[in-house]
Amino acid sequence: MKRKPFVCGNWKLNHNLAATNELIDQIIVGLPANDNVDVAIAPVATVLFSAGAKAKGSKLQIAAQNVFYESQGAFTGEWSVQHLLELGCRYSIVGHSERRQYFHETNESVAHKTKACFAGGLIPIVCVGESLAQREQGQTQNILLEQLTPVLDVLVPENIPQLILAYEPIWAIGTGKSALATEAEEVHSYLRGLLVAQFGSSLAEQARIIYGGSVKAENTTELMNQKNVDGLLVGGASLTAGSFLAIVKECLKRLT
Ligand code: 13P
Repeated sequence: MKRKPFVCGNWKLNHNLAATNELIDQIIVGLPANDNVDVAIAPVATVLFSAGAKAKGSKLQIAAQNVFYESQGAFTGEWSVQHLLELGCRYSIVGHSERRQYFHETNESVAHKTKACFAGGLIPIVCVGESLAQREQGQTQNILLEQLTPVLDVLVPENIPQLILAYEPIWAIGTGKSALATEAEEVHSYLRGLLVAQFGSSLAEQARIIYGGSVKAENTTELMNQKNVDGLLVGGASLTAGSFLAIVKECLKRLT
């Protein structure tokens, strides 16, 4: 099945308001005129209001890098799905490995967040991925299953066509050492299999499974030509318009 590629730039803790505004302008101008790819950026939370306003009416979509699962109350420092929708966000990244590592997110909190996103009308980009040590010990599939099981438990069939899963091997993030396209495909096909087992193939075939970890224009085509690689989550190479747009354009050359 042909799934529309989804490319999201995760800006992490980079770019102030002025730089964000400038970069959004450059990206919007450079986006392909057709609708054959979905493109989003996830800027720092404090600039989402401005980013949402700037992107309104354009082909560029806005994602948050994080979201909390409660909708209101005594949760200092957090923001909800409703708050993000108000700012014009369509997606939120959930469970990025940096949030798991530095901010103690657990597989259960990731599942809560995923459920809250779908309940509120925000599309979650749910991240999973193994460390180098886990891969070397042959634990990749076990770790991914552990990470994903609580998430699968909260999903209902209607969620699956919208679901975006991001496979981001930790050893490939920010290292310049991307997974080989074949390594990515092996994992993506395993992840698809988990969805098929729980929801059946006609729904599972609609979910998008994207890859992240040292993506650049040079490795985009090979990654995107894998059967189960439906898009990319891009860190460093999304921080300038030229390198991000080059990746978006490469995605349009997808064969499968
Ligand atoms: P890099 O593209 O910089 O490796 O980062 C990947 C990532 O973490 C995207 O979420």
